[in-house]
Amino acid sequence: MEKLSPLEEFNRPKKNAQPCVMVIFGATGDLNARKLMPALYNLEQDGELPVHFACVGFARRPKTNEQFRTEMFEKVKEFSRTKPINEQVWDQFSNQLFYHQSEFHEDEGYERLKKLLHDLDAKFDTQGNRVYYLSTQPSYFSIIIQKLSEHGLISPYHENADQHFTRVIIEKPFGHDLASAEALQEDVTKYLDENQIYRIDHYLGKETVQNLMTLRFSNPIFESLWNNHHIDQVQISVSEEQGIGTRGAFWEEAGMLRDIVQNHMMQLLSIVAMEPPNSLDANAIRNEKVKVMQSVRPLPKTHLDKSVVRGQYDTGFIEGFEVPAYRSEPNVSPTSNVETYVAMELHIDNWRWAGVPFYLRAGKRLPKRITEIAIVFKQVPNYLFSNNNEFPNTLVIRIQPNEGISLKMNCKVPGMTHLQPVKMDFRYGSYFGGTPPEAYERLICDCLSGDNTLFARYDELLASWKLLTPVLKHWEENPPEAFPNYHSGTWGPKAADAILHREGRKWRLL
Ligand SMILES: NC(=O)c1ccc[n+]([C@@H]2O[C@H](COP(=O)([O-])OP(=O)(O)OC[C@H]3O[C@@H](n4cnc5c(N)ncnc54)[C@H](OP(=O)(O)O)[C@@H]3O)[C@@H](O)[C@H]2O)c1
Repeated sequence: MEKLSPLEEFNRPKKNAQPCVMVIFGATGDLNARKLMPALYNLEQDGELPVHFACVGFARRPKTNEQFRTEMFEKVKEFSRTKPINEQVWDQFSNQLFYHQSEFHEDEGYERLKKLLHDLDAKFDTQGNRVYYLSTQPSYFSIIIQKLSEHGLISPYHENADQHFTRVIIEKPFGHDLASAEALQEDVTKYLDENQIYRIDHYLGKETVQNLMTLRFSNPIFESLWNNHHIDQVQISVSEEQGIGTRGAFWEEAGMLRDIVQNHMMQLLSIVAMEPPNSLDANAIRNEKVKVMQSVRPLPKTHLDKSVVRGQYDTGFIEGFEVPAYRSEPNVSPTSNVETYVAMELHIDNWRWAGVPFYLRAGKRLPKRITEIAIVFKQVPNYLFSNNNEFPNTLVIRIQPNEGISLKMNCKVPGMTHLQPVKMDFRYGSYFGGTPPEAYERLICDCLSGDNTLFARYDELLASWKLLTPVLKHWEENPPEAFPNYHSGTWGPKAADAILHREGRKWRLL
């Protein structure tokens, strides 16, 4: 086979998944049904699961293997990326699928698990290798890892891949503020090496996010302009039409800053702003990302409300239908102060980005579902064309939906003298065809192959919590005066516009 370049190697889904048993804690939950099982089925279909593989679902409700398989089949039919389901592939996969009923803190349950895993090793030749997927409420992360260790179910970390391995995928959120993230890290590193911990952030599994590095580091036309000499501002937007739906209880504990900004948006920011790594090795990339996070200027304590704006949706209309206010959603307090919208201005204090504001906004019940990164370039001196300054060149990396990249530039209107912006538009779907693999497919496959490049390292997370915990504290101490402060179906609170207006800028129309 032709030798791949490092970039091609990085972008290639890892196909050297190693033999193992994967245990999913929380297997009767929503995430497993909607994302993990469909991802495993699609990996099986694409021939990317190891030949020697078995999967065990661990949860509290009693069920037989057969019941679990039937329920999972229904979920895969509903949520799989590829349809219709190939029953032959499912049969093959479901023969390797088992259910284990136990409480997370019950010693006897782990002893039974040990026996089951031992039997599966013998049956499927999975060689004592384990991947544990913690798809549970975060309050269970520590106890599960502790119990696994106490029952001899965690092998020590070895650089040498020939030894047994234990890898643990931890769902988000990793902590709910700085102190709890530090406490959780202390708990899990009693039993695991950092290299065994795979903190999942599914944004990193998305094709467009990975393509961001390819775009930057393989195209000199972009990278040579990627600095404060040419870029005026960067806007990162995560806009959702949906409200919080049935996740009221979860959302009341989380809010937008914790659920989206602290993890996904900070990851996007660090990939946009990082320096080129010296190789595409996991740690080389993560070293550069963490430097960005550590260079973000702490938010100003004295006038925090000018740099960070929070909002909560009121009633309004989405696609012509009236929708309720956040405070009227199920399992939400009628006096809740939890935010469903955040906008902020950040600065990165390094040579590349000095003076370039990064504007972040994330909101629920906005008019459209769009996640994008917009790089807005500086303009030329404005004396040749009368309306030149209205239309800055803008490179937009669209993460969802319609993944792609577009470049807005100015063009002369035929026959006229004035300018008009036109768009060069690349869309993954129309260019490459098919549907790209789901983020969870790529990430599970990478973990089975021992590649943690697309998982968040602890120091990245720590830097992010250090930046944002003062905001949480400030909000706790100063309840919002006017919640709800934006109607569903609008672009968020007015105060969010003011962040940019002060600097003579405005949010992009999405
Ligand atoms: N759902 C999503 O869209 C989503 C998206 C991103 C991240 N996440 C994260 O993924 C994780 C799981 O979320 P989820 O929505 O799937 O949660 P969920 O629907 O509430 O499922 C929780 C699971 O944990 C099991 N469980 C709870 N307490 C247990 C105990 N004491 N002993 C044994 N099993 C117990 C439940 O089993 P029984 O039902 O049998 O009691 C169930 O299988 C969370 O960390 C969440 O933040 C979820």
